[in-house]
Amino acid sequence: MNSVGIDAVAIHAGKLKLDLVETFAPAMDEAPEKYTKGLGLHASSFPDVDEDIVTMGANAAHRLMDRKGLEPDDIGRIDVATESAFDNSKPVSTYIAGCLEQVYEGDFHHANKGERKFACISGTQSLDDAYNWIRAGRHRGRAALVIATDTALYARGDAGEATQGAGAVAMLVTEDPNLVELSPEQGFGSADETDFLKPNQQFPSVDGKRSVQVYLARMREALEDYESVAEPTHPDQFRYIPFHTPFPGMVRKAAMLGYRHMIRDSSIEDDLASEIGRQPRIEEFDDEEQFMDAVRDYMDDLKETEAYRGWYEGAIEPTLDIARHVGNWYTGSVHVARASALKRALEDDIDMTNEKLLVGSYGSGAQAEIHTETVREGWTEEIGALDIDDQLAARYDISYEEYEQVHDVHNHDKETDFEAFTTPESEFVLSGRGPMDERVYEYVE
Ligand code: CAA
Repeated sequence: MNSVGIDAVAIHAGKLKLDLVETFAPAMDEAPEKYTKGLGLHASSFPDVDEDIVTMGANAAHRLMDRKGLEPDDIGRIDVATESAFDNSKPVSTYIAGCLEQVYEGDFHHANKGERKFACISGTQSLDDAYNWIRAGRHRGRAALVIATDTALYARGDAGEATQGAGAVAMLVTEDPNLVELSPEQGFGSADETDFLKPNQQFPSVDGKRSVQVYLARMREALEDYESVAEPTHPDQFRYIPFHTPFPGMVRKAAMLGYRHMIRDSSIEDDLASEIGRQPRIEEFDDEEQFMDAVRDYMDDLKETEAYRGWYEGAIEPTLDIARHVGNWYTGSVHVARASALKRALEDDIDMTNEKLLVGSYGSGAQAEIHTETVREGWTEEIGALDIDDQLAARYDISYEEYEQVHDVHNHDKETDFEAFTTPESEFVLSGRGPMDERVYEYVE
């Protein structure tokens, strides 16, 4: 069988922008640096009044299909990953297929549709499902459409409010892909955790500080599990390392942990030994607390080395370019990080063909997954077709009062009636409710 992976990608950002520096920080009476330096965020993308997870997913999918010249018959599977679903029975993929059928002649009646849930990691799990379906030879030559779409909103006043975001990533999974080939090897770190959950409620209950620790613990397990089936990882193997990005500051912590792990027992650790010593080993300590203190000291020193800084600038920083201006997109976030890195490579004229990515996904609750990807020759064409910069520049910049209104509009418990801030053009919008209270969508020319 040929290689299997992501052939093409399209991104749709919520059409409103909340500026964290100019608008959110003053209203919260916080220093802007808490957001820009601490969390690493400058702005969040929000859905306009007539946008939701269906319109964002459908708009991304429509753009992808049009660009690739596809018809519904070419698609054998539509999987939607989301943790913002508003229907406990009818999957979002059926709503999106319904939207797309408004603009194509054919239909998706013979496509298998579903919805995947495991917090933010379900986007990657949906890629797995598509990959396995193709590898099993059940696809009849057709492609899978994987759509990760979320409105990542927190209750007003929650610490997570600064990390909100909304958008969708549509990915086409095929044999012999243009963009990246997925490795069959993968590693998991998975445990029953209550760091972030939504037990039949719209906004999450979050233990924010603990969620950070759970992310790191599961990611480390996943990396070790990956190495047990692949090979030991080393920083030089991977041009970029896209991580799930709830906010860039989280990735900064994960990157440091990953780097420390990857350089252990390598020539990089040897070379750094004269500057900062060798990494503490647990067997050299009487108790775990002393060991953890020594690890923290080592990491503080490691962070300041030229070797680490150079690696971070090259392998991690480019994955955060988009996230800094859109916030958390939950299921789409790691897929935005991949696109962001490849976009930077294109801008910097870096030849990525056959280069490797190490991809770290995470979902609260909790599970991390690590796999590798090999960049394919067609990547420049695919990444060159992204229009995310134009979308971000065209966003309507909301005031704090407008932010309060928009948050209420998307709050399922509130009845509000506000006009959209932007005018739709060649896109799907939420136009009302049907007789069974189902959401109704239309395509606006
Ligand atoms: N200048 C520079 N830095 C500043 C600063 C200033 N003036 N003020 C604060 N900071 C720094 C802090 O030192 C901190 O950095 P470190 O973590 O490196 O120490 C950072 O800014 C954030 O400050 P706080 O910790 O005080 O922020 P907070 O407590 O208000 O909120 C949070 C942080 C708990 C992560 C919160 O944003 C949150 O709950 N987010 C939602 C949960 C989340 O995203 N968790 C991530 C892991 S779970 C996951 O990944 C799944 C998912 O998508 C949700």
